[in-house]
Amino acid sequence: MRSSSVEARVEALLAKMTLAEKIGQLWQGHQATSANLEKIRRGEVGSLLNVKAEDMLTCQRAAIEESRLGIPLIIGRDVIHGFHTVAPIPLGQAASFNPSTVRQGARMAAREAAAAGIHWTFTPMVDIARDPRWGRIAESLGEDPYLASILGAAMVRGFQGTDDATPRREGVPPGWENLSEPDSIAACVKHYVGYGAAEGGRDYNTTLIPESELRNVYLPPFLACIEAGAATLMSAFNDLNGIPTSGNVRTLRTILKEEWGFEGFVVSDWASIEEMIAHGYCEDHREAAFKAMRAGVDMEMYSPCYPDHLAALIESGEVPLGWLDDATRRILRVKFHLGLFDRDPATAINPQVSLSEDHRRIAYQSAVESCVLLKNDGLLPLGDRETIALIGPLADAPADQLGCWVPDGRAEDTTTVRTALEKRLGKAKVRFAPGLDYSNQTGQDGFSAALAAAREADKLLVVVGESAWLSGEAHSRAYLELPGSQQALIEALAGLGKPLAVVVMAGRPLVMNRWAAQVNAILWAWHPGTEGGAAIVDLIYGDQSPSGRLPVSFPETVGQVPIYYNKRNTGRPPREGQSGLPIGTPLDPCDFTSRYLDADFHPAYTFGYGLTYTTFVFSPVILSSDEMKPGSTLEARVTITNSGKRAGIAVPQLYLRDRSASLTRPVGELKGFQRIEIAPGESGDVVFEINEDHLRFYNEENQAVVEPGEFHLWIGADARCLLDSPVVFQLKF
Ligand code: BGC
Repeated sequence: MRSSSVEARVEALLAKMTLAEKIGQLWQGHQATSANLEKIRRGEVGSLLNVKAEDMLTCQRAAIEESRLGIPLIIGRDVIHGFHTVAPIPLGQAASFNPSTVRQGARMAAREAAAAGIHWTFTPMVDIARDPRWGRIAESLGEDPYLASILGAAMVRGFQGTDDATPRREGVPPGWENLSEPDSIAACVKHYVGYGAAEGGRDYNTTLIPESELRNVYLPPFLACIEAGAATLMSAFNDLNGIPTSGNVRTLRTILKEEWGFEGFVVSDWASIEEMIAHGYCEDHREAAFKAMRAGVDMEMYSPCYPDHLAALIESGEVPLGWLDDATRRILRVKFHLGLFDRDPATAINPQVSLSEDHRRIAYQSAVESCVLLKNDGLLPLGDRETIALIGPLADAPADQLGCWVPDGRAEDTTTVRTALEKRLGKAKVRFAPGLDYSNQTGQDGFSAALAAAREADKLLVVVGESAWLSGEAHSRAYLELPGSQQALIEALAGLGKPLAVVVMAGRPLVMNRWAAQVNAILWAWHPGTEGGAAIVDLIYGDQSPSGRLPVSFPETVGQVPIYYNKRNTGRPPREGQSGLPIGTPLDPCDFTSRYLDADFHPAYTFGYGLTYTTFVFSPVILSSDEMKPGSTLEARVTITNSGKRAGIAVPQLYLRDRSASLTRPVGELKGFQRIEIAPGESGDVVFEINEDHLRFYNEENQAVVEPGEFHLWIGADARCLLDSPVVFQLKF
């Protein structure tokens, strides 16, 4: 559905544009270089990315006041998990299992970015990521399509200023209603598609994904974001089944534009059109321009294939004019809906919005909800009276705790664990000795000071992990242990026999099998952002209760990777308790199952897992019927009782399995979750409604189908519930 007034304005403008001006709209330059400014004046630039704050107005004025048609630029930037106020990395935000918190984080970022003159962010990244070696797992929303769909859509709404209550506006694409508000920016869902499945976890690497799997696992979060109104989409870097995603007709033109009816525009990733030459898919820039246009990439980021070759390709008839007009229309449509033609660029700029008390509170709450308590033998929460030795390279690392992709986050605005702890206890009660200057430092020069501090203290709080630059784009790792000498540091401290809690700040799951047993508590804090230190200290002291749940499985060892809960069963699933070297003859048929000889087949911590300071007991699931007919619904109900002494937040999760289908289906798939606060001794009822949509999947012919037969259902505290006996129902046609 298109706004007739916007569409009329688009058409009127299009009719005035020369071929060169249309091609100009399709190119995005990097920064306000003098060459780019010249191009802007000539109408050869549609967008800029990563413009410095001080250049923002100059560029926009050059476009509006000096180019022939005065078409404004759309100015884009990587506002990934905050602008000046930084929320936890997206993987951390996903651990909140809380769309409302995630939406708030995006809203905050949008307000700050818009006030700096930015119109467009390159997020959310909804690439399903099941390989912690991949550095960009930090930017992802984890391994599960359902969770990523819900949270990705929440981010889109946050950036574009809508929510469930936003009234639909006649003729405006759903989700675009508030794009023109001064505190909205356009979202860009990325990286389309399959990028997170990079072989070996090595960034930019090849992906091979059958279309049914693409549709069942990798595409759903993109569709959810488009349905939430994402105004733009970014094509990816990866080769998908032999065709790079920035030249992929099937995924872009057929699925995105024709099947889903996407009305916004597609931007390539950075030089990903040009990179089709390196992929071996195009001979030269000219062919790359042709293939990207054929696929439906509307705007080229950075590389010069479109500006250098589109005119000739159109003249020769290889690229029909209709493709160019369609791309230009889409870009202009977004610009009009953003209100760029109707606002004075100078009025947007208002840096006061940044780091307001309200925004710090949002970042704090997001950090509180993102932390996952992995282990606690009763040490946490700590009491205020003890002296604490605060050790570890991340305890007072204000830039590192912001994580990857924070071009605008500033170390000086950050509350570290050290700052927050000293504020709480007073400096006299905190013995700070980092032990290592940064996470991957080797050697043990700082250990003696750390051990001395530890000897003087009652309890030890160790903050370790990964420096920010160990995750993110092009930062894949082949080892997943704590880098540098951090493990040795923990072991040395554990040797003192004092109560020891470890906080980990990292951009990915790490393996902890060599040290987890030696410590009393582990709080996983990801890279927690501007208010991370305050959130962690409040959690450690029990002012807040941990409520985060893992959005991704944590392997026991890197050799298990990829390991994710929603796997298929195999014909020889391993049995519980089966690990270690086989007993009996090597020909014992019991030994021939899908497992490792030298590691468990379970992850160290599974998807959905997270402790809090109380315990919950789930009642058996009660299903409204053991039969379901198409068009009808079932209700699944559990009662959750807080059996501990403190209030806490339970996160019940609904999992379903299609027991036998025309394509093998995963052993369980998340289909619902809730957050429910329960007081000690109290119970809460949780109800999930199940309808046909929850049972649908794409079959071998890539058709969405619901097949009759037996379904299994669980409601549990995490994906380990899939090991319990399911509740069974039949779908009958
Ligand atoms: C990344 C994108 C990012 C773009 C612009 C690329 O290298 O893959 O995610 O939005 O750069 O900075």
